[in-house]
Amino acid sequence: MYICLCKGVTCGAIRSAVNEQGIANLRDLSRNLGVATQCGKCVHSARQVLNEALGACATGGCCGASTEAAA
Ligand code: FES
Repeated sequence: MYICLCKGVTCGAIRSAVNEQGIANLRDLSRNLGVATQCGKCVHSARQVLNEALGACATGGCCGASTEAAA
């Protein structure tokens, strides 16, 4: 799923940046991938995916990694 349409950044790309490049905050994510550097509409979603990838999100995030857990 695309998170940042302006830069063509996907949920998977953000996860990879966290896991492979050690990205741990939105500023570094923006610097490395360009997320939220144009219109800024992706800030909230990017932060959510970032937090999820860091293990700090309890909602399941955009990729449906844990969508069946709460039923
Ligand atoms: S959608 Fe990410 S900067 Fe526009």
